[in-house]
Amino acid sequence: MTGSVRERVFVSRSLDALGDPSPLQPLRDAYRVDVWEGPRPPSAAELRLRAAPCAGVLCLLTDRIDGEFLEACPSLRVLSSLSVGVDHIDLAAAARAGVCVGHTPGVLTETTADLAFALLLAAARRLPEAERFVREGRWTRERRWEPDLLLGRDVHGAVLGVVGLGAIGRALARRARGFGMRVLGWTPSGRAVEGVEGVDLESLLARSDFLSIHLALGERSRGLIGRAELAACKPGAILVNTARGGIVDETALAEALERGHLAAAALDVFEREPLDPSSPLLRAPNLVLTPHIGSASVATRRRMAELAVANLLAGLRGDPMPHPVA
Ligand code: GLV
Repeated sequence: MTGSVRERVFVSRSLDALGDPSPLQPLRDAYRVDVWEGPRPPSAAELRLRAAPCAGVLCLLTDRIDGEFLEACPSLRVLSSLSVGVDHIDLAAAARAGVCVGHTPGVLTETTADLAFALLLAAARRLPEAERFVREGRWTRERRWEPDLLLGRDVHGAVLGVVGLGAIGRALARRARGFGMRVLGWTPSGRAVEGVEGVDLESLLARSDFLSIHLALGERSRGLIGRAELAACKPGAILVNTARGGIVDETALAEALERGHLAAAALDVFEREPLDPSSPLLRAPNLVLTPHIGSASVATRRRMAELAVANLLAGLRGDPMPHPVA
């Protein structure tokens, strides 16, 4: 028995459904693994209690990792998040506590870009509305085929503005070019990307028929697309957000849809998740909503789990993690 065998690891949600053998097996082979099996995520107090004796924690983006949590976990050396985004983690507090943090970029890039493009198409061609039309029995003999039934917007030949040219933004740009779109891009670092016309945010908003957000949530991106930016969008534009809810002002977006300044929008992420039943978004017209499923394919969630486990194992051994948070 090595010393590490007796160390404890807490995993904040069961990952066994992500494949057989469980992606947690390599952890179980080396550590005493405690898995939260509750029907809902652990509360902050439950998380602190279960993680307190552990050297490693595998968490999800729904777990708030703040100073209070870190204080409650004096033995913690490694935190591994099953997500690319790390806005749920107080990284400065983790660094002060000497806790290494890992995450899962790369493996979810293409899957998330697929969803962003699916949402773009769904919003452009009004797919949810068209589906409801059929299911609700409104597709009648009298309305078998009408010249103006459920008219949407063309995607081919349109201009897509990509806000954030990281891996997912670039993967979306590739898809868009394949669909005959012209792609503009803006990113805070000003990086140049082949096949994407780099522009400033103001001209991206003014020129894009479709806008898609691909930034991490942080101090500089929070509220980036506010009332003024939405007003600066080309009239009739369609907005897609698969990044983080806090980047777009939801009240201003609902109003822009209501007024018809934006033709449509599609959101996979929200300021508060799950979406509150009183959110103005639920009453806004021409809005496609999905419940934060950007990376939700069978293969990708398995790869994310494997990477989160690999990060945790490497960190606990004192080796470099495959994907530390920079
Ligand atoms: C999902 O939103 C992620 O950050 O992985």
